[in-house]
Amino acid sequence: MVLARVSKLHKSYALGRTKVSVLRGVNLEVREGEMLAVTGASGCGKSTLLHILGALDKPDQGTVSLAGEDLFAASTWRRDTIRNRDVGFVFQFYHLLPEFNVLENVLMPRMVGTSTWGWMSARREAKAKAAEILELVGLQDRLKHRPNELSGGERQRVAIARAIVNEPRFLLADEPTGNLDAKMGKGIMECLHGLNEKGQTIVIVTHDQQIAALADRQVRLVDGKIES
Ligand SMILES: Nc1ncnc2c1ncn2[C@@H]1O[C@H](COP(=O)(O)OP(=O)(O)OP(=O)(O)O)[C@@H](O)[C@H]1O
Ligand SMILES: [Mg+2]
Repeated sequence: MVLARVSKLHKSYALGRTKVSVLRGVNLEVREGEMLAVTGASGCGKSTLLHILGALDKPDQGTVSLAGEDLFAASTWRRDTIRNRDVGFVFQFYHLLPEFNVLENVLMPRMVGTSTWGWMSARREAKAKAAEILELVGLQDRLKHRPNELSGGERQRVAIARAIVNEPRFLLADEPTGNLDAKMGKGIMECLHGLNEKGQTIVIVTHDQQIAALADRQVRLVDGKIES
């Protein structure tokens, strides 16, 4: 079954008076349960594509459907709901909140959309869930650390934990090993494989061929299109 289908996607950015055409007719299918790697040179539009796939940005033209639902034909409210429920996003540069510790960073997505009252009753369960996920990524001894008190690999794992705490069907990871040495990179890939085996569909974006080779399938973004 196809979980996500991208068709004829176009996206350009205006830079002063010039228009930079980044995506020029991307077609892509992501099958339920697979781990797909999207590769391509720096600046070719990998992050742009991933952001649109996760409904974090809008295309100029084309469609993205997730579990059969057309993301950009839906209302903003509907799109936000789908994103919060179904998509976990691991950002290229982590985007952890520096003022909050590891546990609190991972709790954030669970707090989103919960009223203060609701949170009072949901907090205990949410904390237990966050702690369980942090153990899964091997950070059970770092719960009270702030991001600046962690190594790069640990930060990356917090970012992954935060992305999966709501148990999204679809995990999108932008260069999840990009800022790490080879050994840590492999550790992150093992972590992602574990999640994939538990049923999560994963798309990772990477410029690293060795990392891409660890996925089930690879596609390459070249000249604004998926190479066939
Ligand atoms: N907000 C923006 N405004 C203008 N141009 C942008 C913007 N965001 C990205 N671009 C341009 O779009 C192109 C694609 O950017 P993108 O971040 O998707 O590339 P990438 O493949 O993820 O690169 P990398 O491997 O370096 O992360 C780049 O040339 C970039 O300069
Ligand atoms: Mg990028």
